[in-house]
Amino acid sequence: MNMTKKVSIAIKADFIHFLNEDEMVFIPKGILWVEEGKVKMIGEEEKVSSFLPKEIITKDYSGKLVFPGFIDGHVHAAQTQAIASYGKRLLDWLETYIFPLEEKFENNDFARHSVRFFFAQLLRNGTTTAAIFPSRHPEATAILFEEALRLNMRILAGKTNMDRNAPVSLRDKTELTYSENNQLIEKYHNSERLNYILTPRFAITSSEEQLQAIGDLKKTYPKIAVQTHLSENNHEVGNVKKMFPKSKSYLDVYDSYGYLGKGSLMAHAIFLEDDEWKRLAKTQTSIVHCPTSNLFLGSGLFDLQKCRKYKIPLALGSDVGAGNSFSMLRTASEAYKVAAVQDIEFTARNAFYLITLGGAKALNQDVFIGNFEVGKEADFIVVDTMATELMQERLRDSHNIDEILFVLMMLGDDRNIKSVYLQGNKVEI
Ligand code: GUN
Ligand code: FE
Repeated sequence: MNMTKKVSIAIKADFIHFLNEDEMVFIPKGILWVEEGKVKMIGEEEKVSSFLPKEIITKDYSGKLVFPGFIDGHVHAAQTQAIASYGKRLLDWLETYIFPLEEKFENNDFARHSVRFFFAQLLRNGTTTAAIFPSRHPEATAILFEEALRLNMRILAGKTNMDRNAPVSLRDKTELTYSENNQLIEKYHNSERLNYILTPRFAITSSEEQLQAIGDLKKTYPKIAVQTHLSENNHEVGNVKKMFPKSKSYLDVYDSYGYLGKGSLMAHAIFLEDDEWKRLAKTQTSIVHCPTSNLFLGSGLFDLQKCRKYKIPLALGSDVGAGNSFSMLRTASEAYKVAAVQDIEFTARNAFYLITLGGAKALNQDVFIGNFEVGKEADFIVVDTMATELMQERLRDSHNIDEILFVLMMLGDDRNIKSVYLQGNKVEI
């Protein structure tokens, strides 16, 4: 264990965090006291300062806002170099831009370069935890875990599995599905802050044998969740129905292999039938809403209203490279617009909950992260709401925290992220 990464420090700033969906806590002029990487105490300056040990190092960020690190519920580590590729819908886009790029992750040097760049982008944008799809290569996946370990990031990842409807070099040997995943699980799952998550790309690119092998792994490791894509695009949904005629619905394909349950992550979920909503609710399977991606690929509009009605755990995802920003602020601003065109309310509180505690709950990581409850890992970010001239002008006379948060969500990006801390340790960004 690398103790030097778990730091004791006191942070002076204004703090925002959530105790639950409806309970935001705003502490102006507060102190966060971190002991050995975990939250020891948080509160108003006068209260906390009397408890602080004399020798503690204090960082003064007065006037800045400190949030728990942002959480990206769905992102592809092997797609950075294809972000913003012009003009095709999902299935064409995958074939034209994404598969040729993912093939390059066969080369470990490229994989290492790419994954370092990827994590730097996450951190620069204030994202301290993510559920990540690497390429299908076990070596590239190991490189990703090693890099996250070196950075001391809490992540979820698992090699992307596919053995059909992809270029030959991107197809797994079906009979190796169990052992390749198993080896990675044994080596990395629960090592420091790493979590393995089983990752069949989507129903179209896995044979029934492969889907079954992943179901077998889920049975062997019941605490390990599954992440995949669900009902993103109408052509995709049509193909799944043709390919799996015995299944009642797209979700039913995943259900039949035992993938659903707490912490499992279904990205997109745009074209769901009532039975699918009900089944997600019953199993408390999470949805990851990826608005930048859904608009960029012209996929469709996520129905946040239904998701709320069925009380399904929800996270927001950047879905880079289909999403066109690593910033969870920009992702939240697009979620606002996707809700607005459907006349659904989506406040700044809704957004900041989803990219902190809500995301942590959806990823089943909320015992460790998501807010500043005593004992949680102290991953946090320092935000300057006045980072741009436009924001200075807009916020000159604003003193209401909801207004400030809304402007931050609609105009903010990586320029607003001034510092990032992992377990109390400042990261170079
Ligand atoms: N569906 C299957 N694979 C992908 C992917 O890489 N990106 C997105 N957005 N959807 C997918
Ligand atoms: Fe995706």
